[in-house]
Amino acid sequence: MLLIVFPFSCFGVRLSKLLVPISKVYLKYPCRKSYFSRVKNILVIVGTRPNFIKITQLKKLGDAKGVAVKLLHTGQHYDRNMSTIFFEQFGILPDYTLDLESTTAASQIGETIVGIEKVARELNPELIVVVGDVNSTLAGAIAANKLGIKLAHLESGLRSFDRTMPEEINRILTDEITDVYFVTEQSGLDHLLNHGINPARIHFVGNTMIDTMVAFDEKIRENTIRTSLNMSDRAYTLMTFHRPALVDHQEGLKTLIQILKDVSEKYDIVLPIHPRTRKNLKEFGLLDEFNAIKGLITAEPMGYFEFQHLILHAAFIVTDSGGIQEETTFRQIPCITVRPNTERPVTIDVGTNVLVPLEREIIKRHITEIGNGTFKKGKIPTHWDGKSSDRIMDIIAAL
Ligand code: UD1
Ligand code: UDP
Repeated sequence: MLLIVFPFSCFGVRLSKLLVPISKVYLKYPCRKSYFSRVKNILVIVGTRPNFIKITQLKKLGDAKGVAVKLLHTGQHYDRNMSTIFFEQFGILPDYTLDLESTTAASQIGETIVGIEKVARELNPELIVVVGDVNSTLAGAIAANKLGIKLAHLESGLRSFDRTMPEEINRILTDEITDVYFVTEQSGLDHLLNHGINPARIHFVGNTMIDTMVAFDEKIRENTIRTSLNMSDRAYTLMTFHRPALVDHQEGLKTLIQILKDVSEKYDIVLPIHPRTRKNLKEFGLLDEFNAIKGLITAEPMGYFEFQHLILHAAFIVTDSGGIQEETTFRQIPCITVRPNTERPVTIDVGTNVLVPLEREIIKRHITEIGNGTFKKGKIPTHWDGKSSDRIMDIIAAL
């Protein structure tokens, strides 16, 4: 009797170990090619600045592994400096862009679901991939579910356990209907397992945000923004703030201004302003006081290479961003995160991150530690090695 061997794996089972009588295969499945076809078309949904930064290597690797990766930009972020600039710097283009005019979170999510559905019906992908925890992530997850298309979630399992954050609700709901879970850190794996998710569906692949830093390392290092701003190495701090819990409240913004005044006594500050923050500073009549802070250089949101170059040479970072906690951990640059919690605890347990309340004295104390060299040093977390997208594409190609 003839025997054939299939040299690939499926659902974690190495099929090459299975010896199948060929007569049975021909009888039951006359078109063997289609029966054994793998995932060949995937649709990746992105909508916000951090999403664009997390998917830069997928398309390129997809080509190498025989998977067509199509990119759908939902248009959630639309300013040039929040969107187009990243595609230009990374040398990628969305295959589809939605043109939505939503004004509230609910209409944004609703319209995005409808937009994604139209594209997905036309493209008919075998898998939809969503990224992170933004409204576009949830919209992509619901669209996939309603269309009966399998869903993969990059950065699944993260939890802040703070349900007042819109992102936490997006994470919980997305993970509830995900089929393939890609996890960046141990806590993500633990949360999914505790929730009873089948371990075979969870893949601890590491962090694709780090892949982008590694892939574009040369461009980041050779960028000239620091010299054009006239900033010496380690003599300045880089800051960003955009969380509603901080910047949607006048009191929060007033305290932030006091903190900036404190810090500017010792360090120059570079602060690219997120559109949400700029809008609120204006609305609360605080923009002039903000702009007048001595030693504070405010800017429009920056391109990736510029911002990364400034991280690399900063004395420390102060932020409420999710992704920047991870990037500073990878660079081993001190990060003071002005939030009561984080969904990325590895940056604290292993990395260079600390959580602080919006309190002047506590923040001053950490900055003193940084200045006298007693601030914690940190290590690079497991699998944050620049190869996560590669692992992801291998898993997808073998599904
Ligand atoms: C969103 C994500 C947040 C993520 C952040 C990354 C949600 C719920 N929030 O927050 O998790 O950390 O992106 O930056 O998805 N705006 C502009 N131009 C733009 C984008 C936004 O002017 O290009 C303004 C608009 O007035 C908009 C507001 O900013 O109403 C907020 O934008 P939105 O995308 O809803 O939330 P972000 O605060 O950007
Ligand atoms: N970033 C950037 N330019 C800026 C500010 C941030 O390129 O002016 C990058 C930053 O390096 C990180 C990502 O944007 O990769 C983080 O996005 P953001 O803080 O908006 O979102 P979050 O990570 O909090 O969801």
